[in-house]
Amino acid sequence: MIYLDNAATSWPKPDCVVEAMTWYMRDVGASPGRSGHRLANEAERIRLDARETLAKLFGVADPMRVVFTLNGTTALNLVIRGLLPPDSHALTTGMEHNAVMRPLHALAQHGVDFSVVPCGPDGTLTPAALDEHIRPETRLIAVNHASNVCGTVLPIRELGAIARRRGVPLLVDATQSGGCWPIDLMADNIDLLAFTGHKALLGPTGTGGLVIHPDFDIARLPPLICGGTGSRSEAEIQPDFLPDVYESGTANIVGLAGLAAGVRYVLERGVDEIRAHEAGLTRRLIDGLRSIPTVRVSGTQDAERQTAVVSFTAAGHSPARLAQGLDERFGVMCRPGLHCAPRAHRTLGTLPDGTVRFAPGLSITEAQIDQAVAAVATLVEGK
Ligand code: ALA
Repeated sequence: MIYLDNAATSWPKPDCVVEAMTWYMRDVGASPGRSGHRLANEAERIRLDARETLAKLFGVADPMRVVFTLNGTTALNLVIRGLLPPDSHALTTGMEHNAVMRPLHALAQHGVDFSVVPCGPDGTLTPAALDEHIRPETRLIAVNHASNVCGTVLPIRELGAIARRRGVPLLVDATQSGGCWPIDLMADNIDLLAFTGHKALLGPTGTGGLVIHPDFDIARLPPLICGGTGSRSEAEIQPDFLPDVYESGTANIVGLAGLAAGVRYVLERGVDEIRAHEAGLTRRLIDGLRSIPTVRVSGTQDAERQTAVVSFTAAGHSPARLAQGLDERFGVMCRPGLHCAPRAHRTLGTLPDGTVRFAPGLSITEAQIDQAVAAVATLVEGK
């Protein structure tokens, strides 16, 4: 079996992730921030460990500025729905996932206006184009960091500098880049970074969150969900301090135990080393697919400018049928179609059928890349 669906969720997870989750379930089991007994305290230590490892990875000094949500989508909704009152304006890009587009369209029903800054047909964005679209009433810039369709990486540092100069908060969707592409919240001028735990951070599904820049005033951002936090139990009003203001309800501690282990694995191996490994696989994959005459690869076709997410089409073959053949005949697991990102496919010119997406992970070898490419060649050549 060759698992090339790491853009949907990474697998297999490192052993340390499985072990941390098993340890929590067997030996800890309790809920953090409540109760005060030794097991509850151990659960709180696990949650703090997850905050600290993520703060280190993303370059923020205060771990309390890392807040956990159900997943990346919830973090994006928290910011988009919280920062855009009626009559305000938002800016986004032509490479967004529906986790950004659908909340924006929902708010458009309530008087919010938004503009989509066009990207090139390879998914790239010129920073000056963003600058030109900012209006006096723009209250948020929401940009994808790395495309879940084709891996193209947007220049967030340049975009962050523009957002900072124009005084508009920048929200970065880092669900496809956190853990496999360098991110420094301070140097990149990111006000709000939404991450998911189960992709390149190597944790389990059901984890994700938001990292908040030290200069961002949280009084501007109301919580999406209110409820019990274990703090200030006497008050019927939501606490106004981090991280509790955004973390109501019982936490997913088994998930955070796994996430902390996954992030520690990333830190120990090093994002640069992970990047170098994945760039090698990406280069081999792009070159192999491009050598098949009827195959067209989407995006930059440049392993230095994208993550390990490679989308392609083959003339005369539906992506869905190709993916089915890859699974059934060759044991190659991938995701075909529109990848919940019709806007990105419109930009790339791959509507209405979408693409076949190969997303190798850390455990994939060059030999497996070659086998997957050979499988595509066999299918499109009708053998
Ligand atoms: N957004 C994830 C993907 O691209 C789930 O597959």
